[in-house]
Amino acid sequence: MRPLTIIGNWKMNGSLSANQQLIQAMLGLGLTDLAKSARLALCVPYPYLIQVADLLANSGIALGAQDVSDHPNGAYTGDVSANMLQELGCQYVIVGHSERRQYHHEGDGLVARKAKAALQANMTPIICVGETEEEHDDGKALVVVRRQLQAVLDLLQGQVASCVLAYEPVWAIGTGKVPTPAQAQDVHRELRLQLAKFDAEAASKVAILYGGSLKPDNAKDLLAMPDIDGGLVGGASLNAQDFLALCQASN
Ligand code: G3P
Repeated sequence: MRPLTIIGNWKMNGSLSANQQLIQAMLGLGLTDLAKSARLALCVPYPYLIQVADLLANSGIALGAQDVSDHPNGAYTGDVSANMLQELGCQYVIVGHSERRQYHHEGDGLVARKAKAALQANMTPIICVGETEEEHDDGKALVVVRRQLQAVLDLLQGQVASCVLAYEPVWAIGTGKVPTPAQAQDVHRELRLQLAKFDAEAASKVAILYGGSLKPDNAKDLLAMPDIDGGLVGGASLNAQDFLALCQASN
């Protein structure tokens, strides 16, 4: 049985005062208690990692980042290494988010190398896969996500069990649109079958999260699916009540 995993992705949002208010509201609503029976984390912008690490201290809620360099150090202006993130207390790092694939032209090979860098720094990569609206409309969703996942499997070999996957249909991100639970389950199941061909034991353990307009009014049905192990949450992670509701949705 895989524990429920709910990970917030704040994207490029927040401020020192807003972060403090939001996290104190989450803790005040009982998020620490929920963290005893679920795997919870917040992935925040780099400048806020130290503040949020302090606010989450002793809460059982983990800290994460939203990207990482595939290089250990060196002449990479503006980049941040896995060791730097780990040093600040990050346990998770999102890699291959569709917004980075789109705006920063991150390819499958780079995403795989970023996942490897995270693992080498003892962090859990949250590896994002997902098709665009055009690919969805052309019926290519499975072809795309299988290609994205295979690039990771080819590089990480036996380390896949230490990863988290996130299926985020791009057409559902920030749009209010979501696949039906059955449609999402079909993709999650295919991802798990692909994992199983590679490493049957890992396939049964790897959490596969859904992301893309996951909200309190749709979470219960999506999270009830056998191969949906939780959510990677954008907008709803910026609202204390909504985030708590998602963390309680599978109860
Ligand atoms: O990484 C999660 C994010 O892409 C989903 O965003 O706002 O649709 O929940 P949102």
